[in-house]
Amino acid sequence: MNLAQRSIDVIRAGQSPSGAYVACPNFEQYRFSWFRDGSFIADAMREAGELESADRFFDWGARVILSRPTGPWDARYTLAGEPEASEWPKLQIDGLGLFLGALRRRGDWSRWQDAFDTVARWLGDHWGEPCVDWWEEREGIHAVTLWCVGNGLASDEIKREAMARADDRLDGSLLFIGAPELVERVEQSLVFDGGVHRHLEDTYYGGGQWLLLTAMLGLAKPERAAECLAWVEAHARPNGDLPEQAQGHLLHPETYDPWVERWGEPPSPLLWSHAMYLRLHHALRDRR
Ligand code: BGC
Repeated sequence: MNLAQRSIDVIRAGQSPSGAYVACPNFEQYRFSWFRDGSFIADAMREAGELESADRFFDWGARVILSRPTGPWDARYTLAGEPEASEWPKLQIDGLGLFLGALRRRGDWSRWQDAFDTVARWLGDHWGEPCVDWWEEREGIHAVTLWCVGNGLASDEIKREAMARADDRLDGSLLFIGAPELVERVEQSLVFDGGVHRHLEDTYYGGGQWLLLTAMLGLAKPERAAECLAWVEAHARPNGDLPEQAQGHLLHPETYDPWVERWGEPPSPLLWSHAMYLRLHHALRDRR
């Protein structure tokens, strides 16, 4: 199976006519579009030559942003771009920073200039305030959140602040910052049997190894890239779907069944997993 092509197909199928990317089509709690997941997915699709798909996501995001121009914005919206009423922790500003970063990497973002300026202004005023982390668990000021915002605003000051916060907790999201000392710390404590965990207290579906983080490890450390790619491939479902997590090594196995009883089998396919697989695949291809 050509897993890169399969990933593009899964992502295309998960893009709604509105341009939103669903986080996971088969998992009720994830039938929304996140700025965080979507921005990584748009980056991956652009690299895969699917610029139109990426641009439709930017259209969706810009519509969401301009429909409430004073902010703040939520981490996720319905595929139609409406707010949703659940108790889900809403304020997660990393996604907005990632959205700006994905536009910058695209180049020529004039079509979305109003939305870009609106978010940039808001982030410029609020970046130092607490919000909820990548894993939607803890409120505070988080290293990777600041890193995403610092990238989006092209601000060295905010990126320095991100680095200063990197000692808070050992967390797989630090791989996205990519500084060698952080990558090494993650490798020492969060990698088991080749797969990367989110953090040691993770009890979500037992705390498995996340495919998207394993791909991020390969992106952060080129000498491990091929091994990480192979690990993700080995954890694809027979039909080529990439789940959110693998269960080969669970940090808290006793918490797996209670989650299955509550929300069903863990999410698969996760579009963000497919996006990170594609990004690592492209990085290896470009090195050849
Ligand atoms: C993760 C988030 C992610 C969301 C949708 C959550 O379980 O913690 O980082 O954005 O799922 O994929």
